[in-house]
Amino acid sequence: MKKKVLFNGKTLSHELGRHRIVRKIYTFDQIDSTNEYAKYLAQKGAEEGTLVISDRQVKGKGRLGRTWESPAGKGLWFSIVLRPGMAPHKAGLISLLVAVSVAQAIEELLGLRPALKWPNDVLLDSQKFCGILVESEIGANKELSFLVVGIGINVNQSADDFPDEIRTKAISLKLVWHSEIDRIEVLKSSLYKVGQNYLRFLNGQHAFVRAEWLKRCPAVGGKIVVKQNGNEYAGIFESIDESGQLLLRCPGGSLLKIHSGEVMLP
Ligand code: BTN
Repeated sequence: MKKKVLFNGKTLSHELGRHRIVRKIYTFDQIDSTNEYAKYLAQKGAEEGTLVISDRQVKGKGRLGRTWESPAGKGLWFSIVLRPGMAPHKAGLISLLVAVSVAQAIEELLGLRPALKWPNDVLLDSQKFCGILVESEIGANKELSFLVVGIGINVNQSADDFPDEIRTKAISLKLVWHSEIDRIEVLKSSLYKVGQNYLRFLNGQHAFVRAEWLKRCPAVGGKIVVKQNGNEYAGIFESIDESGQLLLRCPGGSLLKIHSGEVMLP
């Protein structure tokens, strides 16, 4: 792992000054995965608000054991340590909160209207530009000892920069905005929104996460198929519950609560 340069820690600290969520910043030119490094720091006691950001990841991790393409100079690959001190089942809601926050940031910064796909993909033109991977560790008291929230945002890729397998599913902000975008501006807006929403959440306001998430999910009310551990469940996407689980109305009328998996539109 090589330390910093493209994202300069001092400059970033200055830029992120009013973002109360960020306390300490680790910057890299290249790293295996910012989530792995943030977990390592959290296990050693890193405080809430520790941010790890790298220009490139060589082993970027996606959800469900997938890899996450993280080329140099094109996107934002960063992870933040949170210590909300709460029951583990509430972590799902924080991952939705982060997806809402990135969507709001892009709305305010670029005037675009991202859509959300359960649980936490952020899309433009039905293609994904942001993925979120939340990893947690549970302490002896059965509460979360920390969460690492990893955010990957495709900012300035051209279509050719995406590998063939994901070219039809992935998109960058530049491909929608039709011009290069300052990555630092996207980082600042996203962290600002995450910080603002996270503080609201810590202050006991939880309902807004579900409401803001549902507003941005066009698949709600329609037919979907959910893939989970090799099984497929078809039904109507009824809603999400107060802890962020997907509620699927099955053909026989029963309601299935889904904690993790992948949604496909038939
Ligand atoms: C997904 O599959 O949608 C989640 C992708 C999460 C990618 C980000 S990039 C920064 C952080 N470090 C990682 O290794 N993964 C997350």
